[in-house]
Amino acid sequence: MRWSHLKRNTEPTANVADRPPGLDGLPVIGSTLSFIRNPLDFVRSIGEYGDVVRYVAFGREFVVISDPELVETVLVSRDNEFWKGEFESRLGDIVAPDGVFYAEGSDWRRQRSLLQSLFTPKRIEAYAADMVDETVRMTDGWTDGTIVNVREELSTFTLGVLTRSLFDLDLEDERADVVVRMVDALGEYVDAEMLGVRSVLPSWVPSKPERKFDRAMADLDALVESLVHEHRESEGESDDLLSLLATAEYPDGTTPSPNEVSDQLVQFLVAGHETSATALTYTCWLLANDPEMQRRLAREIETVCGDRNPRIDDLGSLTLSEAVINEAMRLYPPFPFIHRQPHESTTLGGYRIPPESTLQLPLSSVHLDDRWWRNAESFRPERWLPETEQNGNWKCDRPEYAYFPFGGGPRHCIGMRFAMTELQLSLAAMIRRIEFEPVTESLGPTWKVSLDPGPVKLRIRTRDR
Ligand code: HEM
Repeated sequence: MRWSHLKRNTEPTANVADRPPGLDGLPVIGSTLSFIRNPLDFVRSIGEYGDVVRYVAFGREFVVISDPELVETVLVSRDNEFWKGEFESRLGDIVAPDGVFYAEGSDWRRQRSLLQSLFTPKRIEAYAADMVDETVRMTDGWTDGTIVNVREELSTFTLGVLTRSLFDLDLEDERADVVVRMVDALGEYVDAEMLGVRSVLPSWVPSKPERKFDRAMADLDALVESLVHEHRESEGESDDLLSLLATAEYPDGTTPSPNEVSDQLVQFLVAGHETSATALTYTCWLLANDPEMQRRLAREIETVCGDRNPRIDDLGSLTLSEAVINEAMRLYPPFPFIHRQPHESTTLGGYRIPPESTLQLPLSSVHLDDRWWRNAESFRPERWLPETEQNGNWKCDRPEYAYFPFGGGPRHCIGMRFAMTELQLSLAAMIRRIEFEPVTESLGPTWKVSLDPGPVKLRIRTRDR
């Protein structure tokens, strides 16, 4: 592999006509294979050579942006120059094309302002008790000494929280099966697409995962329609997202179409299910491997909650739990990459970026960059504690976008508050009841819809309460 113009390339001396430095001499197929084998290591190794570096894979040019200032430029200060891009929008064409995640321009603005009203602190408060109940239900099934695959258990848990908040359905309700089947079919479909199954079939032949997904999606559409009908008929007020969405009004007095309601809900499931499950899984695994931090956390929870379960008004006092979660998402960001594409030819960091290029913002490497993070690879929740607390000198100044697990700018995660409430409450409700001990020794995260750790087994020790 040979690198052209190897340098840290943030200096303003670059000629505007310059293309970013890139991988020369490695056949395109080589980059594609390296990316498929281990996208995180591959992209990180590219970042070693500069803050704006290009490579070619899957027949398209990617430009990796590793400088937090330039990440801010793309997501916030010059966000109107970029769109989500062809690379990511492939998934939008498959899944829920009428939803907010892949909408652009005025269509996106219209949807986003309507949905924003569903994620206010007051609304989220209404889901907090369910989040704790679901956690208690899960941990009640864990007896002392058993080994559990937390990856699987937490995936069921976050799906349970979402089916309650989105559809007002308990996972044990048989109608929730439709949601579970859709989520499974979607996972299989996306995995198959990523492995390129599609490319070996003519485009008019639906693949097996696609047929399965289409059937599951049709069932979900039917379920959404009957639930909307049921909720409209009922006298009482419902605060599940489906009911709120079905009755919400755009400024021109219209309400979202049934397809749009269903697509928005599917996108909430896709964006909010595995992301939260993997964030919690990594958090539990990191704690299992740091018994002293786990004890400190248990002490904090006991001081704040005493002998009751955590509540939403405890969150402000559970500073260490928040720090632990932030640190887990620094080391293992659930969304490891964000992509954008310029509408027109533009410049970034002094380099020319044509409209065909896909910008790749690698959270997975920026979060581990030793220019911003002392001892970047190690788990140190103390970095996130306020100065007044004993933070062991782990806190230091860094640019804002050295950490961006929920993205940034106008398209930042709409479910961020929902997710942080769920993560903090469920972590506190778990750690006051149980302690984790490590069984799975090391993790090999892979990039699926989110950063998947694979099976993570931990031994459960119940606490005497
Ligand atoms: C730990 C959990 C989560 C993480 C790390 C996460 C991360 C992200 C990130 C990085 C983006 C920005 C993507 C981009 O700019 O291209 C995003 C967008 C989004 N997220 Fe989340 N998310 C989480 C949970 C949730 C939840 C629980 C929901 C809904 C219930 C949700 C719904 C969305 C939606 C709808 C968008 C698109 C917003 C838009 O384009 O306007 N997310 N999320």
